[in-house]
Amino acid sequence: MHKPSSLKDYAIAIFLAAILLTLFSSYLLIRRGYLFDAPPSADTFFVFNKVIIGVGTVLLALTFLIGPIVRYFDRFDKWLGYRKEIGIIGGFLALSHGILSYHFLPLKFPQEKFTIENIPFLAGLIGSLILVFLFVLSLERVIHLMDGKRWWFLQRFGLRAVIVFTVIHVVVMKWQGWMKWLKQGGTPSAELANPLLPGLGMLVSLFLAWVIIVRLYESIFLFKDCGFTTKEICTDENTKKRGRKFFIISFWVMILVYIFLFLRWA
Ligand code: HEM
Repeated sequence: MHKPSSLKDYAIAIFLAAILLTLFSSYLLIRRGYLFDAPPSADTFFVFNKVIIGVGTVLLALTFLIGPIVRYFDRFDKWLGYRKEIGIIGGFLALSHGILSYHFLPLKFPQEKFTIENIPFLAGLIGSLILVFLFVLSLERVIHLMDGKRWWFLQRFGLRAVIVFTVIHVVVMKWQGWMKWLKQGGTPSAELANPLLPGLGMLVSLFLAWVIIVRLYESIFLFKDCGFTTKEICTDENTKKRGRKFFIISFWVMILVYIFLFLRWA
């Protein structure tokens, strides 16, 4: 539900983003061998763009995951208070990625390639427009103008639409490359110092996939409502227990997949 933002909530969201930025930059520095000083075949912001959208996607996924976390684990209740700010910072990073990709990566992604017929571009563009819409919707002045129920409906389904368009954007663009890496690995080059480490996009997408599975499970099997009803707090102990169990088991399955990816070419 709507809650007014405080500076502290933004500080926590920014702190979380800063930790992820540091982690992902370090990882890509090891994998690629550079962050900004790219070889002549790549743009200066090529790697940084990956860092930014890696963090943005994880934050958007977290925004989607906080609901189930709060429903199943009592000690995380206060995370609900940071959800909006985490979403806004994630959205801001995703939009920055859109601008960077469109304007500042001419070597890797020339502008002529971004046409409406290009499905990944179209999906990214629609996702970005929905993010802008959700941002406007989260302004205090707009919230006061709207009926609370409709506002909440638009927020929830808006975020779901962003997630769906992100999945289309990434899977259509990256699936073939991921499969190739899984089957053949890669050989070191000037652009890629350690190709045997999995790409950041793949790691981030796995997290996003897990979050989607947790949400789908609760919508289909726990609440059986296709996500239509509001349910911040789950009072039924049995439902809570089942949700928690699925959450924990699927979490460990995700960790096993991460281990597999890191050991694939180790
Ligand atoms: C909701 C908004 C968006 C989200 C959440 C999003 C998310 C992502 C993600 C997760 C990746 C994979 C990164 C990787 O594998 O390293 C990606 C790649 C990419 N996106 Fe987006 N994107 C969005 C909007 C856009 C827009 C509007 C554009 C174009 C102007 C765009 C252009 C690209 C390009 C060119 C790549 C490939 C980057 C690379 O391989 O280095 N994205 N996006």
